[in-house]
Parts: sequence; C-alpha cells; structure tokens
Amino acid sequence: MQHTDNYHDRLSAYYQHARANGYAIPAFNFNDMWQLLAIQRAAQQEKAPVLAAATGSVIKAIGMGITAAMGRWGMEDQPGFFLHLDHSKKVEECQAAVDAGFASVMIDGSALPLEENIAMTRAVVAYAHPRGVFVEGELGRLGGREEDVSGGAALVQIEDVQRYVNETGVDSLAVAIGNAHGFYKAAPVLDFKRLEEVGQVVSIPLVLHGGTGIPEDQLRQAIRLGMNKVNVGTLLHHAYLQGLRTALNEAPDSYDVKAAFGQAIQPVIAVVCQSIHRVGANGRLEGLLALP
Ligand code: 13P
Repeated sequence: MQHTDNYHDRLSAYYQHARANGYAIPAFNFNDMWQLLAIQRAAQQEKAPVLAAATGSVIKAIGMGITAAMGRWGMEDQPGFFLHLDHSKKVEECQAAVDAGFASVMIDGSALPLEENIAMTRAVVAYAHPRGVFVEGELGRLGGREEDVSGGAALVQIEDVQRYVNETGVDSLAVAIGNAHGFYKAAPVLDFKRLEEVGQVVSIPLVLHGGTGIPEDQLRQAIRLGMNKVNVGTLLHHAYLQGLRTALNEAPDSYDVKAAFGQAIQPVIAVVCQSIHRVGANGRLEGLLALP
C-alpha cells in the first residue's frame, strides 16, 4: 500500500520533542478492536501521542489485514496515533507490516549473535525507510515472558551499541537494563549507569520495554536518561480480562456483546490514562502538532 504520510520523519520529530521536554511517548499493546479503542479513547482524553502495538502473535491470531485496518483507522481518526509492530523476529513480517500501512516496526534480533542482528535490522531499514516507516531495534535480552518465549535476561553490552546503530541505520533502540516483560515478582532495579553509558555513545531515542510495574521514580529517571518510548502491555491485558470477568459475572444472562466489552474496556482506558501520566505524555499533542 502507498503511504500518504512520512511516519518516519514525524515520529523522529516527536521523539526529539519528547527528549527535549523530558517525557516519553507510550506504546500500548493491543489484541483486538476493543483494546485498540480503549487506547485511542484514552489518548484522545489525555491529548497524548501514543503508539498502538501489535505483536506477531496477534497478527497470527487475527490476521495482518484486520490488524492493520484497525490501526489505520486509529491513525486517520486521531492525530498523534501510530500503529507499531512489536518484537518481530522476522524480516518478512516487518516488510508485510510496512506494506499493510504500519507507521513503525520493531525488528528484534536480540537473541541472535550481533552479526545476524545487524544483518536483519539492515534489511528491515532498507525496506522501511524508502517507504517512510520508522524502525526500532533491540540489544540485550529482556527477562520474563515475551510472546511464546521465556528465557534468561542479558544486559545490553555497551561495546555493541555504537556498531549496531552505525551499521544498521536503525531509528530507535530498545536496551535491556534489568527490565522484564510481565508483572515483576519483585520491584526491578534498573541499571542506570549502563543506560547512561548507552546515552554517551548514541543519541537516537531509547526504548524501555516491560513498562508494567516499573516504579515511578525509576521510570522518571529512565526517561531523563533517554528512554523516550515506554512500552506497556501486561497491565492492559490484565485490566481487560478482569473487566470482562466482572462484566460477565454481573450480567450472567445477558447476550449483549457490545455491553460486555464496552464495560470491560473501562478499566483499560483507566490504566492507559494512568500510564500516559506516568511517562508525562499527557497534554503533549498540541505542541507536537505545531511542530514544523
Ligand atoms: P509489559 O507487558 O511488561 O508491560 O511489557 C510490554 C512490552 O514491553 C511490549 O514490547
């Protein structure tokens, strides 16, 4: 599909604004139309830029066509709303997402040897950039469960950072500094010294994955040190399914689907609004839309 907008340039300018003004742009994971709607409504309410992020497993479950169509609707309806592909392990999947109209894609070769991660990321950048799409990469391995994989964590190695960024031309970089996906069993202790070292060797926006449950003081410190995108997923999924259980329990004989899901997304809207505030993205849209 032909992109009518240069998402790459717009997102780059948005992240620069976030860095200059000390906040982060949040990315929220969605599985279906109701979760996407919750993200869009919260962003509208908070006048905030957001990314709505789909993983490959969501695309596998419901299809690329419908995933992209929902996201494209969000981008048409709400300024400052971007559709993002989260944690793709495949170059072809990133290319398909670019073709389907995604604004931003993440190629995650972090589990591979550096050479292979570089080669994959380069291939995605070569496809995405001429089509106006933004590319995120990753170095280091997060703890916790990610997609269908759970494995050991590994902190980002500083000596890899400059080489990876220079050789790939990637636009933003997720780095593992003690963060993990899912609910933390004990409060995480982020390695700020390492994050500072990353910031000393590259100036592209950094990305903090595993945003669910990171204490606010650490979140603020991470943002100050260059984490200008913060990902939140588990919190929304938990709120959604809890909300759905409550709705179904409260009206066990109802067959009004839209009433049940409409009720279920209310706690999702609440946690998205809360997360927008935690990263300081509320009320930022006006300033962003005024950018040249
Ligand atoms: P959480 O599910 O821990 O919030 O992490 C989300 C994430 O990092 C998606 O890439």
